[in-house]
Amino acid sequence: MSEEADLSRRHFLTVATSVAGGVGVVLAAVPFVASFKPSARAQAMGGPVQVDIRKLEDGAMIRVVWRGRPVWILRRTEDMLQRLASQTVELRDADSNESEQPEYAKNALRSIKPDILVVVGTCTHLGCAPIERFDVGPADLGADWVGGFFCPCHGSKFDLAGRVFAGVPAPTNLAIPPYRFVGDSLVLIGDDTGASA
Ligand code: FES
Repeated sequence: MSEEADLSRRHFLTVATSVAGGVGVVLAAVPFVASFKPSARAQAMGGPVQVDIRKLEDGAMIRVVWRGRPVWILRRTEDMLQRLASQTVELRDADSNESEQPEYAKNALRSIKPDILVVVGTCTHLGCAPIERFDVGPADLGADWVGGFFCPCHGSKFDLAGRVFAGVPAPTNLAIPPYRFVGDSLVLIGDDTGASA
């Protein structure tokens, strides 16, 4: 290996290690819902944002910003996936035919891997931030609520795959951004070269 290539590889390893370490600290501090801010340079350039999900616990969510948009990464539990499959609510666009979504995420779970949901956290009605409500049958959302996202602005509801309920103001499902996995533990948001479900 040339000296230049070796230096460049060492630089990459240093950056990768720093990013992984930063995520670990944040997740340890806020174990259930964690925040992760990509570097200012990555945000300014609007380039892909790499997120280490190794320490993302079952049922927890990481929030990042990509091109000024909030993107959430949720690790759905087995129980969440079962609830999603057995829910009986009417969905406006169950197959995501009219929603912003890459082809490789056009499946019932709207994801590449069944447990990992990567979704834009902006309500498709007027742009408010929905709230994660993973509780089952709460009094304010009704007995048929099996967990999902609720927009407090005008009451739109989305399931655990970000699909919008029928009869609410939001016209489409929460958007799925382009993304791919780099190995098992890194998600690259904004770059889906070669991605497939
Ligand atoms: S902005 Fe979410 S329901 Fe209106």
